[in-house]
Amino acid sequence: MFRCMLSLAEQRWQCSVRCMSSAARRKRALRSAFQVLEQPLQPIHQHVYEANLRNSIACRNKYIELSEKVRKGGGENAIARHTQRNRKLMVRERLRLLLDDEDFLELSPFAGLGLPYGDIPSAGCLTGVGRINGLWCMFIANDATVKGGTAYPITVKKQLRAQEIAIQNRLPCVYLVDSGGAFLPLQSEIFPDKNQGGRTFYNEAIMSAMKIAQVSVVCGSCTAGGAYIPTMAEEAVMVHRIGTIFLGGPPLVKAATGEEVTAEDLGGARLHAEVSGCVDHFAWEEKEAYDYTRNIVSTLNFQLPEEEDEERKRKAEEQPLYSSEELLGLAPKSYNYSLDVKMVISRLTDGSRFQEFKALYGTTLITGFAKIHGHLVGIVANDGELSYPATLKGSHFVQLCDQRDIPLLFLQNTAPTTALTLSTTQAEMNTNHLKAQGSMMSAVACASVPKITVVIGGCHGADSFAMCGRAFDPNFLFLWPNARVSITAPGHAGSLLPPDSEQVEEEKKTQEEDKLNRRLKEESSAFFSSSRLWDDGVILPQDTRKVLRDCLDIIKQQQYQMSTEKLQPPLLRI
Ligand code: COA
Repeated sequence: MFRCMLSLAEQRWQCSVRCMSSAARRKRALRSAFQVLEQPLQPIHQHVYEANLRNSIACRNKYIELSEKVRKGGGENAIARHTQRNRKLMVRERLRLLLDDEDFLELSPFAGLGLPYGDIPSAGCLTGVGRINGLWCMFIANDATVKGGTAYPITVKKQLRAQEIAIQNRLPCVYLVDSGGAFLPLQSEIFPDKNQGGRTFYNEAIMSAMKIAQVSVVCGSCTAGGAYIPTMAEEAVMVHRIGTIFLGGPPLVKAATGEEVTAEDLGGARLHAEVSGCVDHFAWEEKEAYDYTRNIVSTLNFQLPEEEDEERKRKAEEQPLYSSEELLGLAPKSYNYSLDVKMVISRLTDGSRFQEFKALYGTTLITGFAKIHGHLVGIVANDGELSYPATLKGSHFVQLCDQRDIPLLFLQNTAPTTALTLSTTQAEMNTNHLKAQGSMMSAVACASVPKITVVIGGCHGADSFAMCGRAFDPNFLFLWPNARVSITAPGHAGSLLPPDSEQVEEEKKTQEEDKLNRRLKEESSAFFSSSRLWDDGVILPQDTRKVLRDCLDIIKQQQYQMSTEKLQPPLLRI
């Protein structure tokens, strides 16, 4: 079973490395003169644009409010305990010392807000991709101001998603561990199942075997489950006085044996560096630990492109012709407020250029090639209902990109409901449509190229799968704050209820419909989705081009790893 899983993972990355190594041999991209999309705002757009803008501003305010909330972590008292009593650095300060700069791609910062078991800011753990000595690395960093960094079910989910992204994009992982292990009152949702706590450790071993580096910094408590992260890492650093590793702490020892022992003597940095060998580097203080870690990362065998070449490439990139701020007015407040999606594309691509594919066929799906910060991508964007011809066109284009090893970017805005079957002719049309949808889903699922999905409007029904929704495993999936994610859009609950029957009173039916619509409205918001980790985060429309650049840079990095072919067993700490 283990071999089987490993070889599947192995095949997947070997395939993507093969794709990438052919890219590495290319000295320069072929010249292109894609057509410029002339898509200025026109007076005719004003009414819809302004309504969208008002909605986007309200969503942005909510985004800012939540961002401020999660930055406060576990609150004032917990911060005082963490910094003054425990004399530890705050998690963002740690990242500032670890990473080259503060400009990192944070993943799902709103995860954990408003859950049935409470508000867990950032799910108690920051994850993201940042550069260390120029190399993009995944970081997974506990925030011990949130209930001592203990793992809630959402924390585990967030860590597993971070590891999944690291596997898919072959990113070295750095764990900053400061955790009291499982949040005990919810143990039944954390411990027993496959994709729960133990999976993090399993993944660590699998990634190490795949030569995806695993590095750990013990900068706080590593109790119980937390203890396995550094002991399974390939290289671990531990900070004197604040770092401890043990399965049960001094209170447990006292209860079991009556012996009084200090945390330092039981599992401090000296013990683990000098006696147990659980860690490889002893640091006197936190800053030194992050310096060690940066040096460890510089021993990973990557060769990045020359900085001057990168600089020259960046300078040669064309900016879009139109301001990214205009995306706020293009982000649809609902499906009926969607403007031509080419207006969105022209505000994301280099020079607003776009080489459209099948421009005259299946026109409710726009497909074509463009560059984003110099990266060639195939764009698949909804521009109306995903009709039968649009779906056929989508399948064709996705396969084309797969054949050419070109990453795919899905701009998703699917229709609020699925088609009804009210006549025989319609039933026949729907069946054909169903077959075409199935083909597009297969094409998307089987395409071995990297995929990025941005939900710019609606994410509803089966069309969302064909447009590479979460279940279809995109490398990254982000939502604009106006986005709605639900089986059908709010206001369309009627399509989900059983057809009219004389027994059901009209009034009762209306009440049911209203209730369902209210629920759909609440549960479909982008923030609701992100708090449950159905995506990799909410991004502001005006930041989309930058986020896409980071994702495409991150995806490309694996071609610079020098040693990938030979599979190794995971490194074992004796
Ligand atoms: N489950 C649930 N809650 C926990 C917890 C756990 N495993 N570990 C800590 N907490 C809670 C504490 O009750 C406290 O809650 P409060 O803020 O509402 O009072 C909060 O987390 C912070 O803990 P506290 O002990 O006050 O902070 P600290 O910085 O002094 O110590 C730890 C942090 C993690 C080192 C310490 O709490 C500890 O050792 N916890 C037990 C760890 C353990 O045995 N885990 C076994 C898991 S299988």
